[in-house]
Amino acid sequence: MVQWTDDLLVDIPKIDRDHQELFKMLNEIKAVTDIDEQAIYLNRFIQYAASHFRLEEKVMRDHHYELYESHRDKHEEITQKLADLLEKQMRGGAEAIPHEDLVKLIQFWFFEHTLNVDSCFKDFVEH
Ligand SMILES: [Fe+2]
Repeated sequence: MVQWTDDLLVDIPKIDRDHQELFKMLNEIKAVTDIDEQAIYLNRFIQYAASHFRLEEKVMRDHHYELYESHRDKHEEITQKLADLLEKQMRGGAEAIPHEDLVKLIQFWFFEHTLNVDSCFKDFVEH
């Protein structure tokens, strides 16, 4: 089980709630060893991430954030990487990613993006 830490908070409640939900979903993927189940949970994660990315993009547009396009491109990059993983898990056999690697990759993208890129949302919060 991966532990949530408050370093991941961006101080915008609806975005933090989504991140915590995605984090829970990551732990669900971690908990299932059956490859078909991994694909189901990964698919749910992808659906949730897609609507979450739209929410973040709306918040950035509403704040006229100047790095909006590069942030949106990063969302597209992650979406593509996740879709590739799902395709591999669905094909199964030799194409499938070992469970441990699958979890590590998603975990890495999640932490890297949330800590380094989504941290921009902290600037939107008025103090
Ligand atoms: Fe983001």
